[in-house]
Amino acid sequence: MNLHPRARRIAILLGLLALVAVSPPLVRHALNEPAGNVHQFPWLNPALSPGVRAGLVLKKMTLDEKISLLHGTHWHGLDLDTWNLNLLHANGGVGYVVGLPRLGIPGIQMTNASYGVTRNPRNGRYSTALPDDLALAATWDKRAAYAYGALLGRELRALGYNMSLGGGVNLARDPRDGRTFEFFGEDPILAGTMAGEMVAGTQAQHVIGNIKHFAMNDQETYRHRLNVHIGERAMRETDLLAFEIGLRISHAGAVMCAYNSVNDEPSCQNKYLLTDVLRKDWKFRGFVLSDWGAAHSTVRASAAGLDQEEPSSIFYGEALKRAALDGRVPMVQLDEHVRRILRSEFACGIVDHPPVKSPIDVGRDLKISQHLAEKSIVLLRNQHAQLPLDAAKLHTIAVIGAHADLAMISGAGSAQVDPQAGTDLHFANPPKRREVWFPTSPLQAVRAQAPHAKVEYNPGTDPAAAAALARTADVAIVFVYQWESEGMDLPTLSLPGDQNALVEQVAAANPHTIVVLETGSPALMPWASKVSAILEAWYAGNRGAEAVANVLFGEVNPSAKLPITFPLREADLPQPTVVMPPPPQPSVFAHLATLFRRPGTELPPVQLYYKQGLLVGYKWYQAKRKPVLFAFGFGLSYTTFHFSGLRVKVVDGRVSVNCTIKNTGNRAGAEVAEVYASLSPSAGEPFRRLVGWQRVRLNPGESKQVSLKIPAQYLSIFDVAKNAWSLVPGEYTLFVGGSSQNLPLRKRVRIGEKSEASSAKPVGGF
Ligand code: BGC
Repeated sequence: MNLHPRARRIAILLGLLALVAVSPPLVRHALNEPAGNVHQFPWLNPALSPGVRAGLVLKKMTLDEKISLLHGTHWHGLDLDTWNLNLLHANGGVGYVVGLPRLGIPGIQMTNASYGVTRNPRNGRYSTALPDDLALAATWDKRAAYAYGALLGRELRALGYNMSLGGGVNLARDPRDGRTFEFFGEDPILAGTMAGEMVAGTQAQHVIGNIKHFAMNDQETYRHRLNVHIGERAMRETDLLAFEIGLRISHAGAVMCAYNSVNDEPSCQNKYLLTDVLRKDWKFRGFVLSDWGAAHSTVRASAAGLDQEEPSSIFYGEALKRAALDGRVPMVQLDEHVRRILRSEFACGIVDHPPVKSPIDVGRDLKISQHLAEKSIVLLRNQHAQLPLDAAKLHTIAVIGAHADLAMISGAGSAQVDPQAGTDLHFANPPKRREVWFPTSPLQAVRAQAPHAKVEYNPGTDPAAAAALARTADVAIVFVYQWESEGMDLPTLSLPGDQNALVEQVAAANPHTIVVLETGSPALMPWASKVSAILEAWYAGNRGAEAVANVLFGEVNPSAKLPITFPLREADLPQPTVVMPPPPQPSVFAHLATLFRRPGTELPPVQLYYKQGLLVGYKWYQAKRKPVLFAFGFGLSYTTFHFSGLRVKVVDGRVSVNCTIKNTGNRAGAEVAEVYASLSPSAGEPFRRLVGWQRVRLNPGESKQVSLKIPAQYLSIFDVAKNAWSLVPGEYTLFVGGSSQNLPLRKRVRIGEKSEASSAKPVGGF
């Protein structure tokens, strides 16, 4: 029919209207809007428990609907296998699981949110970049972690997401891990507590929280092929303890299993991890989703406890349906996967409180980002009270290095947050790297603090020219950096390029040289004793420069403590044994297999033996008596503190610690009272471990009481034979101080003649 264009437009419109009129469920489906109310759908009644609600929905679901919840729909909802309407519903995040509009169940909109809501090609909107997760750990401040997570949750919802994929809590067994900036350091109790508080903050915004990568995903090199070997006790007392604590605090709705294998079984089909530990011992009630492409099987993974395959449906789509129909996967087991997912949806509030896209309160969130950065900056060295700088006394300041005229570096990979709208800075150096520099200018921030001084910049690419500028200045501030990313490990902790030479030459030219580090891992500092001050600013987020300047000029008194040891030399790091498979025989088939590799047809594994076992981070350096550059828990302040009056009470294996801290300097400041314990010698752990801490703010001259209860588990060892935590009876020493290597107070006590600590409290999904 040859219609006039206007008539054709009207006809199309009328056609669409007719479609809308006759097919409300279809339209609702397209918009992904839940339909119905509590009378039609009793599970929408929030007064019922999440478990009961999940059970009621489950009863109404068809097999196809069940299967549809158990897998993702490829990246950004583009499901090429089924070519359905998911693209319309998905919010453009890295994962989307369809909703069931027929039953009033929304889709799960997932995206990464480690230090901010990540970039989103289809929904590219602003999100705030916070200081990285390691920086957050450096605050040792549970409230800060909760606020950090709450900000992530609010921004996720404002951007239309209802599930976060943040929450990385893998321990820094090797600080060269390219994702060290995304995790919480080397101590399981600190890491687990901070990650747990962060995820709790996110979940309080009605967003499903996640803890990842379960487990032992402690390096990036060969991450898809690694088979990690580690003893059970070592695993339970180190990496798994961080997960256990994180889950106990957060009640996270989800756990993401890792790419690597653990003790010969891929993490995402590892019954020991997913069932014996996570569900039986920890009573986790949420769901387990695979890391992106980390599922390797259908029947085996389902039996082991994997609930959802992401991001696609290779094993948990048609294959799972077939397996369920022919009885290889029992229907009750399949139902259990569905129930866990639904339960988390109800428990975390995504059904009752669906996200509503809305503007982000940029001003408020930038303030929070800056505040968190200020709390996270660690003052590592301050000779002759070089800092804080007194702007009134400075005539010339040289700002040198690391694009400090414009920006600060950020961490890369799936956690990458885009810089503030419209000012994306990419520096290609070398060409393949995608360094993203956030537009927060140290130069501007220093100028703002010292408006009467002449503040000049040199990029530091020519160390001699930078030194010449430094020579003419009252003080030289050198910014140095180490970029890191998911998908690679750092070849070395040495600062890349000529940055060491730069610092050496500037320090030789000016005795008042201050170094600001922007690193996601510890750095080696061969020049440490030659400079007058050092600050670790980490990847400081959208307002990093303002935070650094506030610390440099004393608007903020630094109070952060290292969550990770800075070693003296690379050779001092623990060296796991890596066993490579024999090289493959060159053949056309082998070559084709690598070209068209799908999960399940992997290359032969690389064996990684964590021989150091329990000796992670400071425990390794202590046990091996290796001196370090800056110890775990270390961090200076512009004031001084005195610890006194330690009292340790033990009642029925319960230990409480009390002491007094006094601010003995002339500035207000905060100190962290760190409590360590060395266990009874028969426990077989020849090192002290962190068992608690408390941050205390004090005015000059003020004293406060620190009062801490130490959970029995933190003083216990994991007894493999009993499959339980066990407080080994005997003599313990409790230590208190401001760093793992500066513990002025100590007391010996006898503990635990017959008590045993238990960790069998539910840890997931409320
Ligand atoms: C990462 C996860 C991330 C996922 C989705 C994976 O490569 O290991 O941490 O959540 O991608 O982007």
